[in-house]
Amino acid sequence: MLKAVHVLNGPNLNLLGTREPAVYGHETLAMIEARLAETCKAHGITLHFRQSNQEGDLVTWIQNAGRAGEPVILNAGAYSHTSIALADAIKGANARVIEVHLSNIHARERFRRVSRIAPVAYGVILGFGAASYDLALQALLSAKPES
Ligand code: DQA
Repeated sequence: MLKAVHVLNGPNLNLLGTREPAVYGHETLAMIEARLAETCKAHGITLHFRQSNQEGDLVTWIQNAGRAGEPVILNAGAYSHTSIALADAIKGANARVIEVHLSNIHARERFRRVSRIAPVAYGVILGFGAASYDLALQALLSAKPES
């Protein structure tokens, strides 16, 4: 049974709300957190919602979640496209990760079309704005337990 979920946010996502609103929308990270907290509360799940501009913080948080056997909703921001360290952490700690993006990275610049996370992710949800996070949480809530 799902007891806790980690929502981990990478660089520049602290700027949501004012950062390129035409691409990322007007919702702040705090607004997203508040909505997910409500859903988690309704399901009796503990929400660990974090953001860092440091790659190493994300590595540590992924490792901890993986070791605890708790799933991760990960928006690694630009590190999604570059970070072998994050991919290694997911694999190494056997973390169950849903990769999320607000924007449809495949419809943007060429360098955003590559994800280092996708090959080691359990699933990927992108392009639905802030709702990508809600959809990822719904996916975890409705997913069958791992065999
Ligand atoms: C993003 C997409 C990335 O390419 C970008 O660097 C971000 C946000 C998204 O949620 O759409 O920081 O992950």
